[in-house]
Amino acid sequence: MDNFVINGGHELFGEVKISGAKNAAVAIIPAAIFAEDEVVLENVPNISDVKVIMQILEFLGAKIERADDPNTWIIDTKNVEYKPIPENLASKFRASYYFIGAMLGRFNKAEVSMPGGCNFGRRPIDQHIKGFQRLGSVVDANEETGIITAEAEKLTGNVVALDAVSVGATINIMLSAVKARGQTLIENAAKEPHIVDLANFLNTMGADIRGAGTDTIKINGVETMHGGEYSIIPDQIEAGTYMTAVAACGGDVLINNVIPKHLESISKKLEEAGAEVIEYDDAVRVNRFKPLSRCHVKTMPHPGFPTDMQPQMLTVLTIAEGESTVNEAVWENRFQYIPELISMGASISIDGSTAHIEGVKNLTGTTVNAHDLRAGAAMIIAGLIAKGTTIVTDTIYVDRGYENVIEKFQGIGADIKRVPAE
Ligand code: EPU
Repeated sequence: MDNFVINGGHELFGEVKISGAKNAAVAIIPAAIFAEDEVVLENVPNISDVKVIMQILEFLGAKIERADDPNTWIIDTKNVEYKPIPENLASKFRASYYFIGAMLGRFNKAEVSMPGGCNFGRRPIDQHIKGFQRLGSVVDANEETGIITAEAEKLTGNVVALDAVSVGATINIMLSAVKARGQTLIENAAKEPHIVDLANFLNTMGADIRGAGTDTIKINGVETMHGGEYSIIPDQIEAGTYMTAVAACGGDVLINNVIPKHLESISKKLEEAGAEVIEYDDAVRVNRFKPLSRCHVKTMPHPGFPTDMQPQMLTVLTIAEGESTVNEAVWENRFQYIPELISMGASISIDGSTAHIEGVKNLTGTTVNAHDLRAGAAMIIAGLIAKGTTIVTDTIYVDRGYENVIEKFQGIGADIKRVPAE
């Protein structure tokens, strides 16, 4: 495993290009099994989660090739067969549970080991299970073996009213309903950009899905689907991470290959904190030349401020003048990284789901741990702000979700390198 070594205190200048969205890719790649044909996927991020999903597809019988462009993959799912997905593959990343929806949708049965992935508190999947059941399948989630099985004679469309706005459940129900008999309505659906992207991808391959991006998604089951070409949307959270890094360090950076509309809630908070964000058609420019000022942030499902940007934004606020608050309203326990920031000199207290941040003049470099993917991104930003040297350990989490993170930060003037851990 590698550490990241950062010498902080430099402003950031230049341009950075954002990769395809991780959370769209992890749903869209399993969905390629509906094509039973060749699917050409562009703008696929080159991250470790994607490599594991490709291994699972190969295990199921897909033929996978990488095109000359390293972010384009050709996936042929003609020979995919039903197989249980073993633990050694499924437990490597949380979104392996999308294979339950995809396999159930394609074969009317699925068996997948319980998902692994970032650990920030209780991560129930009751709403996914409710959806599979509403479509007529029998589901068994065996807590002892960690195996989930779902089976139906023939999935049949139904109304599924979600009790919690869940990205994963919305995606899994969409996948299982795509070839079900009749119409499925998902009510109280999540509206994240990757949900719309998955629906667009499935429609490109012959599905009939309407309303993705609103509270109600209507899926008319189709009998057959086909291959096609599709380009994954840019990663909202990767873009937001570079935006917050510029706001934190000061400087002026053009962030290319983004959809500015997806970044609005992040842009607004960064502007409140003292940065300037200029929108172009498919880029945003972020600059900050004046001191940061306090602001208050509450995470919400899309179009609210994303929970996946909470650690990065909170890190910016550690050096903003005055007292800021950050309220985490999506996950139960996503403040595990805060002691790391405190060890760098930040002044933060936690009261339930709210963090109170009293801005300090500067952070000081030390050794900090990347507790999960976005906490790891926050540690990089903290290291870029801090005086002296910061060493970030457990960077395997960061590589799961950020393509070429070291090269991209170096490209905008950061003093950061990857070194093998001892
Ligand atoms: N929830 C339930 N029951 C369920 C499912 C979810 O109560 O069956 C609750 C959760 O406990 C949580 C809330 O609903 O409080 C939202 O969870 P959601 O299901 O939306 O999260 P997820 O699908 O497991 C995805 C992203 C996460 C991101 C969340 C929220 C992927 C692969 N993961 O997770 O991304 O934090 O949505 O936006 O899309 C990340 O990229 O770093 C990451 C963790």
